[in-house]
Amino acid sequence: MTLVSELMRRLLWLPDVLLGGPAYARHLYLTRNNTPLDASVVWEGLTQPENPLFHWLSDHYPPPVIRKLLLNIYANSRDRIAGVSEHYDISNEFYQLFLDRRYMFYTCADFVCDTDTIETAQERKANYILNLVDPQPGERILDLGCGWGSMMKKVYETTGDADNLVGYTLAQEQIRFIQDTYGFRAEFKDVVTTEFEPESFDKIYSVGCIEHIPVRHLLPVARRLAQTIKPTGRIVHHFFCQLSEAPPTRLFALGVKMFPGAELTSLQHHLKVFDQAGLHIAHQSIHNYRPTLRAWYDRLVEHQDEAIKLVGVHNYNRYLCYLADAWRLFDDRDLVLTRFVLQRQDAPVKLQVDVNCHAAEPMPSAAEKVMSWAT
Ligand SMILES: C[S@@+](CC[C@H](N)C(=O)[O-])C[C@H]1O[C@@H](n2cnc3c(N)ncnc32)[C@H](O)[C@@H]1O
Repeated sequence: MTLVSELMRRLLWLPDVLLGGPAYARHLYLTRNNTPLDASVVWEGLTQPENPLFHWLSDHYPPPVIRKLLLNIYANSRDRIAGVSEHYDISNEFYQLFLDRRYMFYTCADFVCDTDTIETAQERKANYILNLVDPQPGERILDLGCGWGSMMKKVYETTGDADNLVGYTLAQEQIRFIQDTYGFRAEFKDVVTTEFEPESFDKIYSVGCIEHIPVRHLLPVARRLAQTIKPTGRIVHHFFCQLSEAPPTRLFALGVKMFPGAELTSLQHHLKVFDQAGLHIAHQSIHNYRPTLRAWYDRLVEHQDEAIKLVGVHNYNRYLCYLADAWRLFDDRDLVLTRFVLQRQDAPVKLQVDVNCHAAEPMPSAAEKVMSWAT
């Protein structure tokens, strides 16, 4: 590291603290390092409780209203579509280094014991979501935010019907991967702006896509999906969100540096949106994201040299810090990972979808309170 870049790193610390608080400044300070970070120091530093002053400041500065405003301004001033590409088009080979080998899921897996690998846990999650979607041959099925085709692969293994299956993504590299690997129909289409034919799909699911949709688009998107699904159909959403209205300050670095254009909101807000869109909740569950983030972290560290060759040391450091910071956000219950099955409120028969599986977590009390408000 040159003396000048080290000096810059230190000089930027104070403006970063003033802008986004100490957790934000620490994240940036670490990721500006020009040499690979020490993985155990980063994990320990970002996931374990800090000294009381740091902790208090992280919780209180900037104040909640300002945080919400700053993140909203930032999310809406960025090109949302370019932001998605920035994150996902970085290199398919890079993601292959740390995601599970069978599906390449880039979303929370279902770990149930310490001996689970990321492969077993993603298989369990795929089965869980498959049960929620319940796909049948001949049904028209839409995967919103299809990633590298992970859930499409699972659905196809069950239905054997590729003609009626389509996935949308905003990452060209993912489309290339899906077409080369599976030959499925993956299209570059934006969930926020795409117009659908009314009642044209039997099943619509999204695994980890809603997080990318800015808050002001959530209701229009939900309304459009409610019109697009057949009255007998269902919508499955797997996503994470805030437990409270105010975004935690630790989210700043992730929102600004890792997912430009994305914006999160509270669980309560999502429930309100479903209701206003005319959707009834037929299943809801909470899942633990932490073991997945830890497994990705460990695998990335295992492949440090290849990762740096593919995306450079700066990106390697960024991903380490983001995975550790994300772990902490879930550990503090600032964020929760949820799964919903929704159906139209005018559906001829009310669904009650139960999945007999140990993969769901007990509801944290704050979530329980919010969920009971909705039912
Ligand atoms: C976290 S990844 C999840 C991928 C996959 N579902 C999985 O479980 O691994 C988010 C996906 O959503 C897609 N995405 C984000 N915003 C989108 C939008 N507005 N329209 C379509 N796809 C979007 C991204 O391109 C990416 O494929």
